[in-house]
Order: sequence, then C-alpha cells, then structure tokens
Amino acid sequence: MATPAAAASNGAIGIAPGVHWIGALDPDLRNFDIILRTANGTTYNAYVVRGSAGVAVIDTVKEEFTDDFLRRLESVARYDEIRAIVLNHLEPDHTGALPELLRRAPHAQLYISTRAQPMLKGLLKEDTLYYQAVTTGDSISLGDRTLSFLHTPYLHWPDTQCTYLVEEKILFSGDVFGCHFCDPRLFNDAVGDFRFSFEYYYAHIMRPFRTWVREALDLIEPLELAILAPAHGPILRDAPSRYVNRYRALAESSLKNEAGEERTLLVFYLSAYGNTRLMAEAIASGADGVDGVRVSLYDLQGGEVQPFVDLIEEADGLVFGSPTINGDAVKPVWDLLSSLTAVSVRGKLGAAFGSYGWSGEAVAMIEDRLRGLKLRVPLPGVKAKLIPNADELSHCTDLGRELALHLTGRFEHKVIDMAALR
Ligand SMILES: Cc1cc2nc3c(=O)[nH]c(=O)nc-3n(C[C@H](O)[C@H](O)[C@H](O)COP(=O)(O)O)c2cc1C
Ligand SMILES: [Fe+2]
Ligand SMILES: [Fe+2]
Repeated sequence: MATPAAAASNGAIGIAPGVHWIGALDPDLRNFDIILRTANGTTYNAYVVRGSAGVAVIDTVKEEFTDDFLRRLESVARYDEIRAIVLNHLEPDHTGALPELLRRAPHAQLYISTRAQPMLKGLLKEDTLYYQAVTTGDSISLGDRTLSFLHTPYLHWPDTQCTYLVEEKILFSGDVFGCHFCDPRLFNDAVGDFRFSFEYYYAHIMRPFRTWVREALDLIEPLELAILAPAHGPILRDAPSRYVNRYRALAESSLKNEAGEERTLLVFYLSAYGNTRLMAEAIASGADGVDGVRVSLYDLQGGEVQPFVDLIEEADGLVFGSPTINGDAVKPVWDLLSSLTAVSVRGKLGAAFGSYGWSGEAVAMIEDRLRGLKLRVPLPGVKAKLIPNADELSHCTDLGRELALHLTGRFEHKVIDMAALR
C-alpha cells in the first residue's frame, strides 16, 4: 500500500488490491456550495478499480482539477482499458472532468442512477451522451471484480447512488460519509482530527434528507465493509462501521421527545406591545385543552435560532406569530424560517397569526412561506387589529384547538346546515 503522504505527489494511491484513489486535493477552498465553510479545504475523491476484464473509474473531480485527475489515472491505467465510468452523483464537483475523460476513453460505458437521467443533459450540455441507468440489484462485472449499485436517492440530490466493490468490500459512497477536509495523508487513521468536518457536513448537507438517510442505511448496514470511500475527505478504512453507526444515530431523532406518543405543537411569536403575544397565549391554551397534544410557547426574542431549528425538526405542528411592521413580518421570524432549509419540515402542520395596525400583511406572507416550505396549512390564520378583542382571542383559541385536533386526526370539518341559515 502506498504511503499516505503520497497524495501530495502526482501518482495514484493504492487503497486495496487493484483499487486506487485518483482524486484531487483542494486545500485552499474556503467555501463550498455557498452554504458550507471549509476551513481545511476539501478533496474530490475519484477511484479506479482494475478487474481481469477491464477498468472502471468511479466519479471524477471538479473541472479545474482535471489535469491532476487524469495524471493520477494515467499512472495506473490506459484510457483504452476503461470499460466503465460510474457516476455516483452528477454535481459538478464530481463530474467536472467527465467530458475530457469521455473524449479520451473510447470504450467506456457510462453508468448513472435511474434518477440521474433527467439531470444529465442539463449538467453536461452534451447532446449525444450514451449511458446506462442502474439501480439497486444491478451490477457490472470487470471479470474478477464486481461493482454493484445501491439506489440511495436524495443524499443530497435526487440522483445520488452508492457503488459497492463486492470482492474488496469497499463502498464508494459519493457524498454520503464525506466531509470537506483536505489532508494529503488521506486515510482516516492518518489524517488530523476531522470529526468536526464530518459532523458539520452531515448537519448541512444530509440532515434535511434524514428519511432518505435512513433508507440508504437500510441498504448499507447489511454490507460487509472493509473501506468506506466517500467522494470528499478522508477514506474511512479504520472502523468504517463507526461512521455508518454515526449516521444512523444522527438520522434518528436528535432530541428525545419526552412527549412520547403525544403530538407536539410549537407556537413561536414576537410582539412589540404584547398584542401578538396575547394571541399566542390564546392559541396555546386552545391547543392545550386537546388530549394527546403537547404545546409549547416561545418568544423568538428570547432564543437562538439553532435550538429552535432542532425543536422544529421533531415537532408535528408549527405556528408563527408576527406583528406587521412596515408591511412585513419581522426579521426574527424570517431568520427562523430561512434556517429551516437545514431540516425537513415537509408535511408538518403550519399556521400563522398576528396583530396589525392598518394593512396587516404579515400573516399571509408567513402562510405563503409555510406553504413554500411544503407545510400543510389547513386553517386560515388569525389577524387582530391592534389589541385583540374577545372575539379575536376566541378565534385564536379555536385555531389552537383545531390545529391540535388536526394533529391527532380528530378534526371534523364544520358542516353548515343551509336550512338553519334561512
Ligand atoms: C414601526 C412600526 C411599523 C408598523 N408598520 C405597520 C404596517 O406596515 N402595517 C400594519 O398593518 N401595521 C403596522 N404597524 C402596527 C403594528 O402592526 C401594530 O401596532 C400591532 O398591534 C403590533 O403588535 P404587537 O404588540 O404584537 O407588536 C407598525 C407598527 C410599528 C411600531
Ligand atoms: Fe454533492
Ligand atoms: Fe460533492
């Protein structure tokens, strides 16, 4: 096996018999995909697998590192030996060198996931790309080496998949189990402490898709694993199952929900003069009267965003209250709502409320945003003009109760008896 420090040189690095790392180091990168800070830079990991009947390349690198990638590849294989190019993920950090590789490797067949098909053309801008779509259960033989595919979508794009080298028990996992951490020593038992990067990558890239993470783990956990070979950061050859277990722990509920079987409803609000606060309290008291629902009330002025995001991830229903200030909901509400891209809120129940003076835009704007985030907003929000009167407060109590009933599946739509209206 090559010495770990060899990644700083130009050659490929052996990771198992017939398997080499041919990726690129990007130590100077400080920001990735806009949303990630990368204090240690990153690596784009690509791999080559040699079988008795041909060579496969798994993933490529960001376009500007094409030369590094090709040089490393050339050190272990000839282009005319390449039979297969497997793309675990089409994002440009892994497909940047693909067009040049395709030009040079005349016998290579491209393998992508079924869900990658609609994205391929948009990303590579090539009209005549021939590929084969693969999914769980499919495999390709390189003679004495077999690559089998695991369909693991939405980690973190629809197209993502993992590729398992059966004979060497290596899982080429794409972005899954990856992190932005550049260290030429390359292997997890040789590099510096990268725990922070691993956790940070999960929290920002994988966490919004944790249901998909769990589904992928169902496929991955039964595999015998000698090495986890992700597309970024250290190659995990020492105790790879530790990282699988860590993903499992992270993808399960992050907070132990003391409510047990109860449904949870969170009411967030801000209030300059106490008007929206009165409404929030009425909503909470309405919901509190419903069995099987645990309701909590939070003044956004008194909290940090991140703990609220953690609570929201576990909650079943979310209610947001804001006064209208200069024709808008107030900034802390938007700050919290824009932080929800880090978790999955799809399908949770949502509602809005707020006091206003004359135009009252906040409630509708929040409702639009909640719908945009794919929450269900089954009940109209409540607006109160300035100090909420008894009628408006009772609307709030009703909203709270009805939301709680929705959460427990006991909400019954009011039937209007037309005869009684006459
Ligand atoms: C700086 C400022 C700007 C406001 N702008 C609006 C506005 O554009 N439209 C509106 O309907 N009310 C506006 N209001 C009125 C508030 O929405 C109203 O006072 C509301 O009752 C405040 O509720 P709170 O006590 O929960 O903060 C504004 C109030 C302030 C102080
Ligand atoms: Fe990616
Ligand atoms: Fe990536």
